[in-house]
Amino acid sequence: MLDDKMQESLNYQLNRELYSGYLYLAMAAYFEDQDLPGFGNWMRIQAQEELSHGMRFYDYLVQRGSRVLLSEIETPQKEWDSPLVAFEHVYEHEQMVTGLINDLVDLAIELKDHATNNFLQWFVAEQVEEEESASGILQKVKIAGESGRGLYMLDQELAQRVFHPPADE
Ligand SMILES: [Fe+2]
Ligand SMILES: [Fe+2]
Repeated sequence: MLDDKMQESLNYQLNRELYSGYLYLAMAAYFEDQDLPGFGNWMRIQAQEELSHGMRFYDYLVQRGSRVLLSEIETPQKEWDSPLVAFEHVYEHEQMVTGLINDLVDLAIELKDHATNNFLQWFVAEQVEEEESASGILQKVKIAGESGRGLYMLDQELAQRVFHPPADE
């Protein structure tokens, strides 16, 4: 049985993962509206990944005999000034999520909840990848700059991304 504070915090993180998915889906819609379908594809897959992260928290709560409690997901931002600004936002958002995961690990350690700490280590590793991939694309967007050709080439590259369900990992 999970500690009440741990249960509440894991439910909160489930909500934050769903919000991340909502934010990236809003970015997908923005890019599709900008005639950058490859960027839109990358964001759609990012949104799917965030939903799968949320489901990891959902499944863990169920596994521990705790109640999953869904709460409101706020409206995400709708517009960004440029692809560069959007990817700066992605990178900042992922760094913020890393902070939330670290806080959860701190709580698990404080409560001597080794099982939850172990569960959370997957997310610790995942956030390293999330930050790496966000900052990597941010760099490419910076290099592409305002050049239509650069953005077009990058759009082609981002169109190649496919979703790998966590079970495949
Ligand atoms: Fe996530
Ligand atoms: Fe993420």
